[in-house]
Amino acid sequence: MLTLAKTALLLAALFPLTALVQDEAAPGDTPEYTSDARLRLPENYRQWVYLSSGFDMSYSPAAAMAGHHMFDNVFVNPGSYKAFLKTGTWPDKTIFVLEARGAEGRGSINQKGNYQGEIMGLEVHVKGVGRFPGNWAFFGFDDNKTAKMTPTSANCYSCHAEHGAVDTTFVQFYPTLLPIAKSKNTLSAAYLKELPTPAQK
Ligand code: HEC
Repeated sequence: MLTLAKTALLLAALFPLTALVQDEAAPGDTPEYTSDARLRLPENYRQWVYLSSGFDMSYSPAAAMAGHHMFDNVFVNPGSYKAFLKTGTWPDKTIFVLEARGAEGRGSINQKGNYQGEIMGLEVHVKGVGRFPGNWAFFGFDDNKTAKMTPTSANCYSCHAEHGAVDTTFVQFYPTLLPIAKSKNTLSAAYLKELPTPAQK
């Protein structure tokens, strides 16, 4: 005869709760910090949700690329992506990875246009409510698996706060997310102010 405790154990073995929990939070789905507050590189970010690729995106009209082209690929952790679909904004512990890759020209059968080459940089934007001033922080990774927070005086913070369409992130460049932010009315006042008025279009 099964005791109540044994039945509970049996049920737990048959229907592991972890399976349900994992669907919400895949491994590496939340930011991890070292004891000295460095962020660990979310190494499986290539299994996250892909948002967009920029090609030679530049923030100043005069920037010269001098024959050197770059792609950037943006990924976000799956749990936060799902939350965005429902709410139009980012929950606490959201993590983005921006992966920069050099553009290759001719190679294999390719005669024109560009394809992606080696990684040139990895930058992370992470939300930590109560952890960071302004709730968000940037981390730039070199060859290390951990990175120190970029100081808040860096222009990362001002550009993202002043021009990002949703909660300091560049949703205006993520085509699957912009319509959601529009329909949920979560576009930032700063972004809305920058939109051309109908007469300017
Ligand atoms: C002058 C404006 C500007 C500055 C300065 C800037 N960024 Fe961004 N950032 C952008 C734009 C535009 C995008 C969208 C890229 C795309 O669409 O591929 C972006 C996207 C990102 C993303 C993807 C997640 C998100 O927030 O949308 C990360 C991560 C990121 N930037 C990191 C940084 C870091 C780190 C710095 C500072 C070293 C920085 N950025 C400085 C304009 C800026």
